[in-house]
Amino acid sequence: MVCAGELLFLQTQTKNQENPYMIVTTKDLFQHAYGKYAIGAYNINNLEQTIGLFRGNLGKKGSNDDALDGTTSAPFILQISRGARSYSDKRMLEALIRTADEVFPEVIFAVHLDHGTEEVCYDCIDSGFYSSVMIDASHEEFAKNIEITKRVVDKAHAKGVVVEAELGQLGGVEEDIVGSVKLTDPDQAAEFIEKTGVDSLAVAIGTSHGAFKFSGKQGLHFDVLEKIQKVAPKNFPLVMHGSSSVPKDWVERINNAGGKLKDASGVDEKQYLPAAKLGVTKINIDTDGRLVWCAIHREHFRDTPEDFDLRPAGKTFMKAYAEYIIHKNTMLGSAGQLESARGSLKGGKSSCGCACGR
Ligand code: G3H
Ligand code: 13P
Ligand code: ZN
Repeated sequence: MVCAGELLFLQTQTKNQENPYMIVTTKDLFQHAYGKYAIGAYNINNLEQTIGLFRGNLGKKGSNDDALDGTTSAPFILQISRGARSYSDKRMLEALIRTADEVFPEVIFAVHLDHGTEEVCYDCIDSGFYSSVMIDASHEEFAKNIEITKRVVDKAHAKGVVVEAELGQLGGVEEDIVGSVKLTDPDQAAEFIEKTGVDSLAVAIGTSHGAFKFSGKQGLHFDVLEKIQKVAPKNFPLVMHGSSSVPKDWVERINNAGGKLKDASGVDEKQYLPAAKLGVTKINIDTDGRLVWCAIHREHFRDTPEDFDLRPAGKTFMKAYAEYIIHKNTMLGSAGQLESARGSLKGGKSSCGCACGR
């Protein structure tokens, strides 16, 4: 069996022999992070987000040509939702990411499908570009969720691609499903992992998608997380969706520039590391990036109403987004881990055990 790293390396080495792409599997990243820090999994849709994301993960605040900052650089997961695939064109995004990988050769990242259906998972597995897919059948009955997830795992593993699945249901809006909260049952989690052979599990422990997560005193259910970690196999990676912090200052900036986001709230960033200690190895962030985008563009056109050019606001956004990623990685504990992760991948500690060098 080929591993994803080897597969991707073989597919891309003709493009750039000297400088192979550093797309790895999420599994490789999880091995380095487990129990110590969480890998940031960031959704992207367009060019400006991609540039900001790559710069930020190399600790570059101002421009592509800034020197890499080892104290803040981080391995990361780049997530693509079904909505992002259809926003421009799935091939457009793929080309953008491959090019970013050439422009920023020091990066280490995984390419992951976020909230996939079975059909889209197969498309990504067959594309040879994604190193990881999420099959989200969490809205199905338990037995059906197992059945669908297992089918995807079998097809993905045969091609060296790793799989995340979800058990329980988050609140909030996710693609076309309006969710009602159903926390993950730890006993079901153990059975689910065993029967599906899945590589990581997204758990519902109180978070929800979007900018309106909690009202009053709600928060994360660490008791449930602790139980899940106890019954899961040793070092089994758990995933926290809906983990944007919806920062008050960014919401305020949006509202001061004409926005109307009332009662927006998110996950307390100080809870990321305690969650990581309990096995949460991947933390999903999408909404925060949208808030940064919205604030920068609203402020720009409020302050320069005579402007109609897309580039000045785009430049400000890329810089602000890179800085935001650095901040987020600091809270996740992944900032400063890039070189150590590289060493561990090169040292043959890759899960596949093959000679792909990742
Ligand atoms: O969990 C959902 C992600 O935030 C993706 O959102 O479907 O609007 O791209 P999207
Ligand atoms: P947020 O809406 O909290 O950013 O969550 C994103 C997410 O879970 C993507 O899968
Ligand atoms: Zn999600």
